[in-house]
Amino acid sequence: MQRDEAKLREYYAGAPDDISLSDVDLERIPSHISIIMDGNGRWAQARGLDRSEGHVAGVDALREAVTTSVRLGVDVLSVYAFSTENWRRPQHEVNLLMHLFATTLVKELPLFAQENVRLLFLGDIDALPKVTRDVFEKGLEETRGNTGMVFALAVNYGSRAEIARAARALARDVAAGRVDADEVDEASVAARLYTAGLPDPELLIRTSGENRLSNFLLWQIAYTEFYVTDTLWPDFTRWDYLRAVRDFQGRKRRFGGVVNK
Ligand code: IPE
Ligand code: IPE
Ligand code: MG
Repeated sequence: MQRDEAKLREYYAGAPDDISLSDVDLERIPSHISIIMDGNGRWAQARGLDRSEGHVAGVDALREAVTTSVRLGVDVLSVYAFSTENWRRPQHEVNLLMHLFATTLVKELPLFAQENVRLLFLGDIDALPKVTRDVFEKGLEETRGNTGMVFALAVNYGSRAEIARAARALARDVAAGRVDADEVDEASVAARLYTAGLPDPELLIRTSGENRLSNFLLWQIAYTEFYVTDTLWPDFTRWDYLRAVRDFQGRKRRFGGVVNK
């Protein structure tokens, strides 16, 4: 992916003691980074605020993560914003989130235009409240022609639901004679996932210290490197992002084979 090095250096000026841009190899920036943005509620609680304030603060962290990804030259940034299980939260929190998604997206569309970012949704967005759905569709339409980074926002996303949906689509294709059952392979499943056409994530970051996937990208992360940080999502900055990339670049990826060096 193209990156503007001058802009990147300016963006990363004023480094803290433990990390700077020179600690990462710009030739080995992961092409797809996924983030499970967790810890908004705890961030708010620690400040004596309502959980909703944590979600509002989380939006700022997300904007920064999008900008950081563009500056670093990441091809795909995917983020988990609302799971199929998050409907279990109190109704007022669900409503707040749905409202926040809509208002935020409207506000951020100029940023996507400016940075040439193409928006994509992972998940069943047809099941969202109409106002949210309408804004999402407008976002898709307005960014369709953008050729820079893909920003994939997972909303009403669950990996098991995604795989079941792919199985349904395949079953229909087999029943209609479009696909031979004996030819169903990994590629034919992958082509029916929400992430069809995207590379698998190379790095998955989860904030707030939880070591679990919570039903995110089960298929796609087969060989993804995990990075868990205790930092709560609203506190996650461009520097935390760089720490994650530095850690990733220190890993030895074997993909089941043998690495000699
Ligand atoms: C992540 O923060 C945001 C969403 C799941 C929408 P949480 O709301 O899960 O925050 P914690 O985990 O309760 O602190
Ligand atoms: C995962 O976070 C979902 C999102 C970040 C959108 P949760 O906070 O919902 O996950 P659990 O309940 O801790 O597993
Ligand atoms: Mg959480």
